[in-house]
Amino acid sequence: MTAEPIAIVLGGRGTLGAALCAELPRAGWRLGAALGRAECDIRDEAALRALFDRLRPTAVFNAAAYTDVDKAETEPEIAMAVNGQGAETVARAAAAAGAAIVHYSTDFVFDGELERPYDERDPPSPQGSYARSKIAGDDLVAAAAPRHFILRVGCLYGRGGRNFPSTIVRRLRAGETVRADRERLGSPTWVRDVARVSAALAATSFHGLYHCTAQGQTSWADFAQLAAATLGLPEDRVAGVPTSALPMKAARPRRAILDNRALRERGLDTLPTWQDALRAFIAEELQSGSEKP
Ligand SMILES: NC(=O)c1ccc[n+]([C@@H]2O[C@H](COP(=O)([O-])OP(=O)(O)OC[C@H]3O[C@@H](n4cnc5c(N)ncnc54)[C@H](OP(=O)(O)O)[C@@H]3O)[C@@H](O)[C@H]2O)c1
Repeated sequence: MTAEPIAIVLGGRGTLGAALCAELPRAGWRLGAALGRAECDIRDEAALRALFDRLRPTAVFNAAAYTDVDKAETEPEIAMAVNGQGAETVARAAAAAGAAIVHYSTDFVFDGELERPYDERDPPSPQGSYARSKIAGDDLVAAAAPRHFILRVGCLYGRGGRNFPSTIVRRLRAGETVRADRERLGSPTWVRDVARVSAALAATSFHGLYHCTAQGQTSWADFAQLAAATLGLPEDRVAGVPTSALPMKAARPRRAILDNRALRERGLDTLPTWQDALRAFIAEELQSGSEKP
C-alpha cells in the first residue's frame, strides 16, 4: 500500500458513511470523495466508473444502501436494485479500477433462532425482503470483486442517525419517555467502532467476510435503560414492552447476536462492549451539545 491510501465513501451522508468520513483520515487515509445519493447513485455504473477513473481510490467504502426494513416489504424490487445489483455495480467498478471494496451487510441475514452467536460459517436464513436483498448483495459483491471486505454489522447508532438506538438517545435527551422492546436481543454497535475497524481491515490483504458488532448482547429496553442512566435520567423514562406491542411490517430476528470470529482470528477484533461504546457515544454527544454531525 502507498503512504497515503485513497478512500471513496459512498452513502457518505448516512449514519455509517458520516462516521467513515470522520474516522478514515484519523487512520491515515486520504478521503478522495464522500458522496450521498444525490451526487452518486450506486445503480449508475457509468458515474461510478468515471469517479473511480478520476480519483484512483485504493478502496471504495460502500455504506450506501436501502435501509428501510419495513418499507422493503412493499417495494422489494427497489431494495434488491440498490442492495443487490447496486452493490454489485460498485464492486465491479471498484475491481475495474484496481480498488478494494469494503461493503456492509447485516445481522438480519439470520433468522435469530440459533441459541448461540452466529459466526461467518453459519448459513444465512433471511426472513424479509431487506434481508434477502442484503444477502444478494453479499454474494454479488464477493463474486464481482476478489478484493472485497464484507462486514456484517447490526443495530448501528451514531450521531444524527435515524435508526432506533440513535432515536432512543435523542428522545431521552429531549425529555421524552421511550417504549422499547424487552424481548428482542442484539449487540448495539456505535458506527465509529465499525468505521475504525473498517479502516484497519482495509489496510490489510485479509479479504473476506467479517462479523463486526460490539461485544455482548442486550435487549432494546436494557439498552435504553443504560442510556437513561448514563444521561442521569430516572428509570421510569423507559418502558420495556413485548415485541408484540411494537407492530412492525417486516419480521426481525429475535436474537441477532454475531460472533466476530474472523476479526478475532486476524487480531482485529477491537470492538468494545456495547456498554462502553454507548457511554462513550453519550459522553461525546453531551460534550458536543449538538444533535447534528
Ligand atoms: N443501521 C443499522 O442498524 C444497520 C444494521 C445492519 C446493517 N446495516 C448496514 O450498514 C450500512 C450503513 O447503514 P446506515 O445505518 O448508515 O444507513 P443510513 O443511515 O440509512 O444510510 C444509508 C445511505 O445510503 C444512501 N442511499 C440509499 N440509496 C442509495 C443509492 N441508490 N445510491 C446511493 N446512495 C444511496 C442513503 O441516502 P438517502 O438518505 O438520500 O436515501 C443514505 O445516506 C448499510 O449497508 C446497511 O444495510 C445497518
